Amino acid sequence: MSWYHNAVFYQALVGSFKADGDKEVGTLRGVIDKLDYLQWLGVDCLWLSPFYASPLRDDGYDIADYYSIHPDYGTMEDFEELIAQLHRRGMRIMTDLALNHTSSDHPWFQASRTDPTGPYGDFYVWGDDPERYPEIRVIFTDVETSNWTWDDQRGQYYFHRFYSHQPDLNYDNPAVQEEVFKILSFWMDKGLDGLRLDAIAYLFERDGLGGESLPETIEFVEKIRSFMDTHYPDAVLIAEANQPPAETMQFYGKGERFHMVFNFPVMPRLYQALALADATPVYSILDELPALPDGCQWGTFLRNHDELTLEMVDDDVRELMYEAFLPDDEMRAHVGIARRLMPLMNGDRRKVELMFSLLMTLPGAPFIYYGDEIGMLDDTTLPDRYAVRTPMQWDDSEHSGFSTKAPSRLPVVGGTSVAAQLDDATSLLNTVRSMIAERHAHPDLGTAPCEPVETGEEAVLGYQRGDLLCLHNFSDRSIDLGPVELGPYGYAWLPA
Ligand code: NOJ
Repeated sequence: MSWYHNAVFYQALVGSFKADGDKEVGTLRGVIDKLDYLQWLGVDCLWLSPFYASPLRDDGYDIADYYSIHPDYGTMEDFEELIAQLHRRGMRIMTDLALNHTSSDHPWFQASRTDPTGPYGDFYVWGDDPERYPEIRVIFTDVETSNWTWDDQRGQYYFHRFYSHQPDLNYDNPAVQEEVFKILSFWMDKGLDGLRLDAIAYLFERDGLGGESLPETIEFVEKIRSFMDTHYPDAVLIAEANQPPAETMQFYGKGERFHMVFNFPVMPRLYQALALADATPVYSILDELPALPDGCQWGTFLRNHDELTLEMVDDDVRELMYEAFLPDDEMRAHVGIARRLMPLMNGDRRKVELMFSLLMTLPGAPFIYYGDEIGMLDDTTLPDRYAVRTPMQWDDSEHSGFSTKAPSRLPVVGGTSVAAQLDDATSLLNTVRSMIAERHAHPDLGTAPCEPVETGEEAVLGYQRGDLLCLHNFSDRSIDLGPVELGPYGYAWLPA
């Protein structure tokens, strides 16, 4: 078993976690200020979303310089200090790298536009035919109509999977691949314990194919893994690959690709089961996912910085999810739903706890999204996915203790805070903390197979994980199972 099998991960956005001094946005120093809190909560590994130099047109997933930190967030020294402070506490840190694309502001792209025969001329996917790769889907269908955008300066189209300001790098160019290894070394040499590789299924394009998870992409993933194994053998690589179940499995291979992959197949099923008061969708997806190769682990999550994605579910399920969780079209982002956990659960604490219990006991290592442990609300008037990225609420002072000045990027939503829940043993925060401690007390949860258990009640999901029998009631009814009675949305971890 490796450290990540049982680690509890916590995702924070630097700009939204905690500001220091008189800053108006969150900073790396602010994160350092809150490490005691994360340690108290039981977090083992902090995941920071991109904090690199960026015009922030995609909140940092549009990188303009892979080697520098956005000046608003602090300095390289601050980052090094953060790593040191985490390690001193016995905690770990992973960061996020978007390697599929850069910002259009990146000097490579600027050079590529103006000097087609120069050293960066072939760094991006240029073409004269905006109809090329018709099989490749547009991901952000609500804002982009094509994966090609015309560039006046170069007099050609460039290819992009996401926003038009995010040109895709050309992985057929060996020089691009070389740059990737330089970037990996640069950050790993700082002492990181892991990396989330963003949009990793999309690196290559080929005529006649859908362009996702292509053999060439998988082969490059293997190169990255063997590079990591050689130089950073304890580090974990986590894939963001939002693909159908069988394709998702390709990112593990036989264990020679990623150590971890986010469990996109399971995530929407938990919400679907709640909407239906029926555990069947969870049983089915668990059945569909094969056991993982040795050394591999799922990244289980309920929410993250993105919308609750519905790209991979069938049309009828998507409709059901919209009906259950999208009361207002303002909450839609791309093909998903940009809401936080507590509002998705309609403010029902019982459902939120049920979801946290699933997070802690389903196969995988749990990833908690900052603020969900206190049931933070969202601001659905904000565009794109910013509804779920508002400043963390620390106390009841002005600006919720996030900063002394009014935050300049996103408003504080308010309503609850860490301080308001800290001393209340019955608060959500303390309940989540106890669940994390329970999870740590059962290391079997890191590796034990998940054996479905028939409960005789369609609303109740049962599975055995090592020495635990886990029961979850997706309905608002009390259900008597004989040895145990589950209240509405009740859950239990029993000795098996
Ligand atoms: C996946 C990230 O999670 C998302 O926030 C981003 O918009 C896309 N990649 C494109 O960079």
